[in-house]
Amino acid sequence: MEVNRAKITAVGHFLPDDKLTNFDLEKMVDTNDEWIRTRTGIKERRILKDPDKATSYMAAEAAKEALESAGVSPDEVDVIVMATVTPDYMFPATACLVQDKIGAKNAFAFDVSAACSGFIYALTTGATFIEAGRAKKVLVIGGDKMSSIIDYSDRTTCIIFGDGAGAVLLEASDDGTGIIDSIHYTEGDTNLALHQPAGGSMKPASHDTVDAREHSIRQDGRAVFKKATTGMADVSAEIMEKNDLDADDVAWLVPHQANLRIIDATANRMGLSSDKVMINIDRYGNTTAGTIPLCLYDWKDQLKKGDNIILTAFGGGFTWGAVYLKWGI
Ligand code: UT7
Repeated sequence: MEVNRAKITAVGHFLPDDKLTNFDLEKMVDTNDEWIRTRTGIKERRILKDPDKATSYMAAEAAKEALESAGVSPDEVDVIVMATVTPDYMFPATACLVQDKIGAKNAFAFDVSAACSGFIYALTTGATFIEAGRAKKVLVIGGDKMSSIIDYSDRTTCIIFGDGAGAVLLEASDDGTGIIDSIHYTEGDTNLALHQPAGGSMKPASHDTVDAREHSIRQDGRAVFKKATTGMADVSAEIMEKNDLDADDVAWLVPHQANLRIIDATANRMGLSSDKVMINIDRYGNTTAGTIPLCLYDWKDQLKKGDNIILTAFGGGFTWGAVYLKWGI
């Protein structure tokens, strides 16, 4: 069977204007700029303050920018795959709201929930529609309004996360570029080292859950750090070996931006020098499903057609993986 390859033909992004700096956080919880910078690499993050705007707003803005840059009209889009853990509502899916906001009236739309690995899971999912010949234009969006599920009195989580979204358009490739391979893993964590305790069917919202701040992220930072470091490094090395790539063949690593120390460990394991690693965690923090497309957006003018790029992420679930693509624009 002939398999089409899917390639990224455009990138868009949205970042709120409001910044929350380490110095702002010093006034909110018992922390300091030096601790945050040395333990995570973060200096500031963006926060969507407008109470009438949520994840679908940022996702739609990012999607519109991607479509405009490709010269593609919204009604040409066949599928919208949206990665998020901060949906506007429990249902309908945020992708449905995006479909309406951008006027993609011919697209079907659904969400993927894979936390910080959400974008790479959604990218692989979106690509399969093109690879199978079932769609011509697929929007893959990653975005989270993390500030909506952060407890700003918990210094172990509130320093890490920010808001933002990125989007890519996938189209069929006829020049050998595009998404070549992906490896994804899941290790269901019944100890729930990284989760939002309440608001689902296990613990529906109640006065008690609100009082206990259980609608916010809970994370066992050390446990997640350990798994994330080995997970991202191992899967990145695995996808290189599987595709016969050595460090000189890789033009760029696009790592999920959770912690600079995790990114450094991944790059070291791959044998990559720091000038080949996209890092914007200092400016945006961890935007969960937004980190990887936001990196692609920030670096898009430096990317050359044919560049070998490895994307990798680790997140709640646990979920992790890597995608190998040849840049095609
Ligand atoms: O993106 C999805 C997946 N998430 C991740 O990948 C996050 C992975 N985890 C991490 O990035 C890190 O574990 C954190 C940044 C969350 C924490 O860094 P750490 O180096 O693992 O710190 P720790 O939890 O081991 O805490 C070290 C010390 C503790 O004090 P003691 O017990 O040594 O006295 C903490 O109480 O740092 C203290 N601490 C803080 N101090 C100042 C914890 N948070 C803070 C803080 N400011 N914000």
